[in-house]
This record gives sequence, C-alpha cells and structure tokens, in this order.
Amino acid sequence: MIIDGKKEAANLREEIKNEILEIKKRINKNPNLTVILIGDFTPSQIYVRNKEKNSKEVGITSNIIKYPKEVKEKEVLNKINELNNDKNISGILVQLPLPEQISKEKIINAIDPKKDVDGFNPINVGNLASGYKSIVPCTPLGCLLLIKKFEKNLSGKHAVIIGRSNLNGKPMAQLLLKENCTVTVVHSKTNNLQEECLKADILVAAVGVPNLVKKDWVKSSAIVIDVGINKVGDKIVGDVNFEEIKDNIKAITPVPGGVGPMTIACLLKNTLECFKAHQI
Ligand code: GUN
Repeated sequence: MIIDGKKEAANLREEIKNEILEIKKRINKNPNLTVILIGDFTPSQIYVRNKEKNSKEVGITSNIIKYPKEVKEKEVLNKINELNNDKNISGILVQLPLPEQISKEKIINAIDPKKDVDGFNPINVGNLASGYKSIVPCTPLGCLLLIKKFEKNLSGKHAVIIGRSNLNGKPMAQLLLKENCTVTVVHSKTNNLQEECLKADILVAAVGVPNLVKKDWVKSSAIVIDVGINKVGDKIVGDVNFEEIKDNIKAITPVPGGVGPMTIACLLKNTLECFKAHQI
C-alpha cells in the first residue's frame, strides 16, 4: 500500500479552508502567517514560496519578510518582537537554516510561543514532552496523521525512529509516546541499525541519508514513513529504498508526494489553531 500524502494533504487543506471561510463569515477576519527568510539559499526560497501559495489557497494571508544574508541578529530580533506584538499576525516562522552570525537558539526563543507555528520554541517543546497542550512541529504532526490513517490504535506498537533532530526525530518520539507506542530512537551512533529497525511496527526515517533503509531492514507488516528529502544527481530520493520495499509492506510513503505535502498542510493547521486560540 502506497500512502498518498498529496491526497491526504489536499483533504486537510480543504477542511482548513472551510473552517476559515466559516470564521470569516462570522467575524470578518483571516489568520495571518508571517515568514522571515534570510539569505538566498535556494531550497529555503522554494519552501517559503510554497508556504505562501498554500496559505493563500486556504484563506490565510501571508507575508514574507526578506533579509540579505549579512543581516545583523539584532535587526531580526527587533522584527520578531514587533511581530509578536502585532495583533493581526497569528503565526511567525523563521525559515531555517540561518546564516552563521545569527543564533538559531536566540531566534527560536524570541518567537512568542503562542505564535510559534513551527513548535520549535522550548516552551512548546517542553509542553509536548510533558504531554500538555502545545503547538506540534509540522513534519512529525503530518507523519502522525498519515500513520493514524492506517492504524487507528497505536497503543503497544513498536515505533522506531531513525534520527534525533529537534525538527523531526525528537518531537516524533514524543508524539508516538503519547499514543502509547513503545518508542526506540536510533541515530548515527547506534550499534546495529538494521537489527533495531527490524523490530518496528512503525518506522519513521528522518536522518537525511539516501536509501539507507533496505528491504531486509523492515518487517512486511510495518508502516514506513519516509521524511528524507535527498538530492541524488538530479533526482529527489528519501531515506528509504522505496523501489525495493513498496511491494512487500503494509504501507509506505513515497518521496516526493508523501510527508512533504502534509508538512505544509500542518503548518496551515497550526496557523489556524494559533489564530483561533488568541485572535478570535
Ligand atoms: N527548514 C527546513 N524545514 C523547516 C521547518 O519545518 N521550519 C523552518 N522554520 N525552517 C525549516
């Protein structure tokens, strides 16, 4: 079974669009997502353009604030402060990676946790880890929604996550723990990756190594979610060898067309949630 992330994301965007229409009729206000883009890193420019296009399609107004790569950290922090205090802005996203003169830690900490649509601020990270209400990072949230389409009850399932990043692996682990999974997080220093992966009922690969997961790394009863986006020659491939695995697996996401569209749809969902919580 191949999981159609494009279709699932389109369904989610439709729900979001309808809810925004409904709210607009009642109070004549729209959510707003403001994105800060620093420098001219091509993938970031593409992501940001995509975020803007998708926002507009569901009725979220969107603006992009661009800075050259030499911008001073203080200038960006001042802008974030201004956006934090602007009642018309529901969500703030600073596109990563940042140039080296700018501290990622300072930027993430500066964003008001109530407008932190990425869910990267330590207040949101801590709330998620504590099992409290929080804004959940978009990619792991998208992965969970895809998994739950195929497995309603995750209780007792063994989830193996490859990768321990703040963006993906760690929040994914927290979400699956909340679903009562037994969670193993493996990474570059893990002794026997293959052996650990073979235990997975749910395998999430978020490590950035092209085609790392081979067919003898997964049980045929597993659900495989591939977060990887790796450029190999002029092709984009995931962290999982899709061609080897796709015909003998319970469910698998393709790359592209799997997790990617869900990430953006979840960003729209987070923006709407921020808007509803604080601006209606
Ligand atoms: N760069 C790559 N992925 C992301 C993301 O999810 N959020 C932000 N802010 N930057 C990114």
